[in-house]
Amino acid sequence: MCGIVGYIGRRSSVPILLEGLRRLEYRGYDSAGVCILTDAGLQVRKKVGRIDAGLARECAAAPLSGSPGIGHTRWATHGPPCDANSHPHLDRSGRIAVVHNGVIENYLKLKEQMVAAGHTFASETDTEVLAHLIGVHYERALARATNGDSHPLTAAVMSALREVIGTYGIAVVSSDHPGIMVGARRGSPLLLGVGQHEHFLASDASAIVAHTQQAVYLNDYDVITVTEDDFKLASLGNGTAQAQIQQIEYSADAAEKGDFPHYMLKEIFEQPRTIENALRGRIDREELSAKFGGLNMSLAELRAVDRVVIVACGTSWHAGLIGEYLLEEFAHVPTEVEYASEFRYRNTPLDKHTLVLAITQSGETADTLAGLRESRRRGHKVLALCNVVGSTIARECDGGIYLHAGPEIGVASTKAFTAQVSALVLLALLMGRIRMLSAQRGAQIIRALEALPAQVESILARNDEIRRIALKYAAAEDFFFLGRQYNFPTALEGALKLKEISYVHAEGYPAAEMKHGPIAMIDERTPSVFLVPRDALYDKTLANVAEIKARKGPVIAICTEGDTEIRSRVEDVFEIPATLEPLVPLLAVVPLQLMAYHIAVARGCDVDKPRNLAKSVTVE
Ligand code: M6R
Repeated sequence: MCGIVGYIGRRSSVPILLEGLRRLEYRGYDSAGVCILTDAGLQVRKKVGRIDAGLARECAAAPLSGSPGIGHTRWATHGPPCDANSHPHLDRSGRIAVVHNGVIENYLKLKEQMVAAGHTFASETDTEVLAHLIGVHYERALARATNGDSHPLTAAVMSALREVIGTYGIAVVSSDHPGIMVGARRGSPLLLGVGQHEHFLASDASAIVAHTQQAVYLNDYDVITVTEDDFKLASLGNGTAQAQIQQIEYSADAAEKGDFPHYMLKEIFEQPRTIENALRGRIDREELSAKFGGLNMSLAELRAVDRVVIVACGTSWHAGLIGEYLLEEFAHVPTEVEYASEFRYRNTPLDKHTLVLAITQSGETADTLAGLRESRRRGHKVLALCNVVGSTIARECDGGIYLHAGPEIGVASTKAFTAQVSALVLLALLMGRIRMLSAQRGAQIIRALEALPAQVESILARNDEIRRIALKYAAAEDFFFLGRQYNFPTALEGALKLKEISYVHAEGYPAAEMKHGPIAMIDERTPSVFLVPRDALYDKTLANVAEIKARKGPVIAICTEGDTEIRSRVEDVFEIPATLEPLVPLLAVVPLQLMAYHIAVARGCDVDKPRNLAKSVTVE
């Protein structure tokens, strides 16, 4: 949560920072601000609200020019969204400015000490406390006249960070030192973009990819001192910091909306390609199995796994639930799926043959990262299924699978989900084929996987059909999403999509569980979206549909192409192509994503930036 960006170079900072912040706005959008080192010293502009409606106007009304500059887009933790709580924050002298992503847990204690020493604060934030603390250490560093090794601003940042408990990705500038910018990270992502006579700091690559495709991903405890032409890495920890320049995988275009009105819609429509990318090069036709480059586990090690624990949050947790069904069906490996936020504080017994699998789009989710670290601390191997290359989880896991879905900007996760499930099908196929899954079943699964991109394409071509259904129910205030087996997690995902972008109350349930309580909620104003593919439990699901109909509940059925039986029993039908049962979620989720999208648009909601949310949840 929160996005930070910094620039040092020969160009004027403001346009670069504003553009970078627009690209990071998905990380938080309560308020935004910049601080630029101008000829008149540090100048701050900050404003509550979205960047274009607030900060960009402020900058246009009173233009600033200069470098270095730092910027921030906020997802409020300490103190409500308002101009005063927006970043950047200054130290007591007004000579040091800080932007921060993370939480300083001991800020109240530090603040009390500083208030006792005469400091006054203009905001309720933890970040302003950090800015003052850096200022205090800066005065001391100057008084010590510092050793030649480290710059006084860097020395002050390092001393201050040694006093704080919590997480941070920060960028710092000072009017005393026009030629440098300092960055540091612990627990919140930060990277350095390396350009020609210019450098950038950013929470993620999307903010800078228009300017450079060369990046250094900082590790926890790294502190970086950046000038126009150089950078120097130091470590707050015991180890030595090492800078490795890497290529940013995607182009600036990949992070553009193109002709789509929203990122979410663009990303839904990208799914034929992203599923293809998740499968590319990973199908082993000879063995009728799957292969991965980065698992870092031999087949013997994989065969020795006798239990899998999946750790994830939100949509990734839903993909994990499908993974559980897949691994148990294909490979007979007992699998559990844990909410990372619960797992990290539980003493879950894991034996030495337990494989932990972290699933995450961003690779930065704080709870999932903590679950990974806890498992590794206990000596377990942790694989990650991750989209963002170079993210913290991608770097800290023992091995893993990249999704190759490209940047996902819409706060509601869509293409990452289908990429995750595609990769999980492959993983379960591999785990199955080295156990008891037959070659014939392997061949069937591969054929079905390869048909998916065209099948998703055919669903997307009928977007108008799902839009008509969505508009019919757009005013409903409560929804149920119901399915059995593989479609139970899909139902959860459909409900989450609707909740998060249209603020409509929606619950996902196993269809047969309704009669144990939730059916009491059903009336003529409460639509149920039923996932009713022609599968082994088709007749039983029809019985569940009848139970809802008997209570006057309207039903929208997502069913298999050519199913005439269901038509007469429900209000609305959307057909999806036939596939193997375990692969149905990859098709069934697409109309659910579209339905949520169209309902949100009809209700006038901000689809890409829903209220109260942020894309990347880097706080507990
Ligand atoms: O980046 P991650 O996959 O770790 O994120 C996990 C959740 O925060 C995320 O899936 C969230 O639930 C989305 N907003 C769902 O659309």
